[in-house]
Amino acid sequence: MKYIIGIDLGTSAVKVVLFNTEGDIIIKVSLEYEIFQPKNGWAEQLPSKWWEATVDSIKEVVNNSNINSLDIVGLGLSGQMHGLVMLDKDGKVLRPAIIWCDQRSSVECEEITNIVGSERLIELTANPALTGFTASKIMWIKKHEPEIFSKCCHILLPKDYIRYCLSGDFATDVSDASGMQLLDVPNRCWSDEILQKLGIKKQLLAKLYESPEITGTISVEASQITGLSTSTKIVAGASDNAAAAVGLGVVKEKMAFTTIGTSGVVYAHTDRPIIDKKGRVHTFCCAVPNAWHVMGVTQAAGLSLQWLKNNICIPEIKESEEIKNDVYKIMDDKAKRIGIGSDKLIFLPYLMGERTPHLDPDCRGVFFGLSALHTRSHLIRSVMEGVAFSLYDCLLVLDEMNIEADNMLLTGGGAKSTLWSQMLADLFAQSITNLSVSETPALGVAILAAVGTNCYSNVEEACSAMVRGNTNIMSPDKVNTSKYRKHHDLYKNLHKSLKECYKLLGKI
Ligand code: XUL
Repeated sequence: MKYIIGIDLGTSAVKVVLFNTEGDIIIKVSLEYEIFQPKNGWAEQLPSKWWEATVDSIKEVVNNSNINSLDIVGLGLSGQMHGLVMLDKDGKVLRPAIIWCDQRSSVECEEITNIVGSERLIELTANPALTGFTASKIMWIKKHEPEIFSKCCHILLPKDYIRYCLSGDFATDVSDASGMQLLDVPNRCWSDEILQKLGIKKQLLAKLYESPEITGTISVEASQITGLSTSTKIVAGASDNAAAAVGLGVVKEKMAFTTIGTSGVVYAHTDRPIIDKKGRVHTFCCAVPNAWHVMGVTQAAGLSLQWLKNNICIPEIKESEEIKNDVYKIMDDKAKRIGIGSDKLIFLPYLMGERTPHLDPDCRGVFFGLSALHTRSHLIRSVMEGVAFSLYDCLLVLDEMNIEADNMLLTGGGAKSTLWSQMLADLFAQSITNLSVSETPALGVAILAAVGTNCYSNVEEACSAMVRGNTNIMSPDKVNTSKYRKHHDLYKNLHKSLKECYKLLGKI
């Protein structure tokens, strides 16, 4: 029997999952790490903590699985996108990684747009300059930490740092590289023009591969540390979103999915690069060779509910410890007791600025309409509704671009909540399929590794064999749709009304 490992280096935790070639989970281990926020709107993590958590998880998987590590033929890597990891000439990490939700680089975004020209930038990278993307983070380091930039010999994305630790190779894949803003997305290669205009040497970047291609094997040193065999082949893998698509079988036109993870995403597969001229959604390469995807992003989806839990829902945390129940389940039950619209309380989930549709690094979270009658249960429901409104904004942009998303799946931690799933079906006025596949990004890259190691001949064939699970279809309720849409109309106006105030807040 052959086995495959899928690794998903998420924002809050790494998940290491061992699968057989039918897609069944044999064992999974997950370990958490912290996000540091040195300033309002900044977000950093320590690559050393990613690596420690990954090593400990792999060791547990290998030691507790009762299988011979020689039978693990392939390993795939996925992870949080856009993060900047800088290494010196000896491969040592030069500073904490600046991660995807960091908003510090708005000035650099304006500079990139001026240097390259807004139209040319979109033509080449398929996206406008965004604080979330890696290029503006590199430009920020160049300006504010020139001594670090001068020592930098390698620039890597988060999952590719783990690849470097596992194999010694500097490699990446086209789906993750798309989020760096240095890739010619339509042609799936590094853009010499962008690199030259931004003064970034191509040697700093990793070697580029399509997602199912093999980039190397486990090094002797990593084999000794983790217990993996040096014969295990590592494939290029994919960004967490492109990997989740493969893990859900979203590999054909008209298929789409919504994720509620730390961030939220509405993702649609396309057979050609389709670009929103206003740049409100991202166009990136897919993990499937010769295909692309368009996706809208809510910066703080699960992150908003997690923030509420950690800072406000202390009684629910205590209750969950006492009765040994999941705290999110307790919060869900409380939110269910409140009606649609949370008794006129609207939450704007802009805790880390917002991408789709506002592209606004300055905006921040708001509870609008707070009254003395509101309770913690109202706050919980209104946070869930605010995140759903933001995801609906993403869907509206895809609709405007005439991208058909007939078949909408749901994934991510938030998919465990029946309330959130039904809320999305009602708001989208569309059936939503909650597929009981867990660890979709890890499964997605395991599928890519199964293709790379010739267990299957292509991604579609591997998906048909390995993506299995029970489906729970949530159908929309027309009465609820009109109630949610009325609140969404007001929600939409709030960002407009507050835009100038957000700018002032940023300057205080
Ligand atoms: C996508 C994005 C997030 C991260 C974290 O553009 O920034 O979805 O990949 O999961």
